[in-house]
Amino acid sequence: MEKSLGPVFEEIHNSPPDVASSAPGRINIIGEHTDYNQGYVLPAAINMRNYFFLSKRADEKVCIWTENLKKRELFSLKKIYFSKQNKWINYVKGIFWTLQEAGFELRGINGLIWGNIPLEAGLSSSAALEVSIILGLNTLFKLGLAPQRMAEIARKAENDFVGVECGIMDQFVSFFGKEKKAVFLDCETLEYELVPVHLEREDLQILVFESGVHRELASSEYNKRRNESFQALELLKKYGTKSYKQVTLGLLEERKNEMDEALYKRARHVVSENERVKQAVEAMRKDDFLLLGELIFRSHKSLRDDYEVSCPELDLLYESGREFPDCFGARLTGAGFGGSGIALVKQERLAAFRNKLLEEASKRKFPRPEFYEVEIGEGAKAYFLDKEEKR
Ligand code: GLA
Repeated sequence: MEKSLGPVFEEIHNSPPDVASSAPGRINIIGEHTDYNQGYVLPAAINMRNYFFLSKRADEKVCIWTENLKKRELFSLKKIYFSKQNKWINYVKGIFWTLQEAGFELRGINGLIWGNIPLEAGLSSSAALEVSIILGLNTLFKLGLAPQRMAEIARKAENDFVGVECGIMDQFVSFFGKEKKAVFLDCETLEYELVPVHLEREDLQILVFESGVHRELASSEYNKRRNESFQALELLKKYGTKSYKQVTLGLLEERKNEMDEALYKRARHVVSENERVKQAVEAMRKDDFLLLGELIFRSHKSLRDDYEVSCPELDLLYESGREFPDCFGARLTGAGFGGSGIALVKQERLAAFRNKLLEEASKRKFPRPEFYEVEIGEGAKAYFLDKEEKR
């Protein structure tokens, strides 16, 4: 697909593209709602990507064609307004706006985007879009930004321009993901380690289960959970803990009576999830997929009962996974409230597991789920196109 976008670009903009960039979506293996709580996460990039082709213009205009929606958007760098009609363009505008706020002098561009990450499914299509845009601009205008800084700017664009208070996980893994490796990230220090994932040793496949429940991250309960977990930490700070990484379940138990039930539960999720991430990394290093799977199941339970971000459609994946002997682990992935889940399933039992999920979903009158067998893919890339590639 990447190659054939050149001619489409030329047809739309009447001149060839100069730079191509692309960035992947992600699954999060474990470590949910811990990123903005300065904790640990263990995501991986997937082999579904967003592509961005671009070239310079002589004026201050940005003209973007989306090949997915077959729509054009034009805006001026002098006045970047939030668009109420076209949500997707705000991710593009947000990057330009944030770069300009940070003092970078940009010029206009022609651009084309296309991607194969399902939208609003909890697989970070928006982070992939932001990352492909900033990396494309960094390459075309030789801005000299390092990947970590670009991930931070992309997150800022989503926080300050799009209005979603997300953490750094999605943008970070979209940059730093590597084939067959998970990214063990400390969201406080941004130190990370690539952990090999040898699924083939147990004949396991990562199955994405898209629940068909579409969520509006910006208008969801996401920001509410964030505030609740921050409030709980504020109370715990009285006892000398600066961040969740220093809070133990013991301390939390002792202070239970000082906070209301909801805050206590949010904190318990964050503290226990941080522990699970560390254990999951150890399990992965030993190829102990049974333990990894068990931790994945427990993560879902905690997200359902303590953080309260699941929904019946995603619980169905968890419950069916628990009952199915060849499903090692299953849980929601991403923010929750709909979107997708992941399951670790024996290759030869994939079809049987899918059928079980389809049957259950239909029995419970849930939307028909979609399935994707994903591989762990490479992080973002960008390069100048040579003459051949432009065709
Ligand atoms: C969304 C956000 C991430 C993270 C997850 C929950 O995907 O974009 O930053 O907070 O939810 O783990």
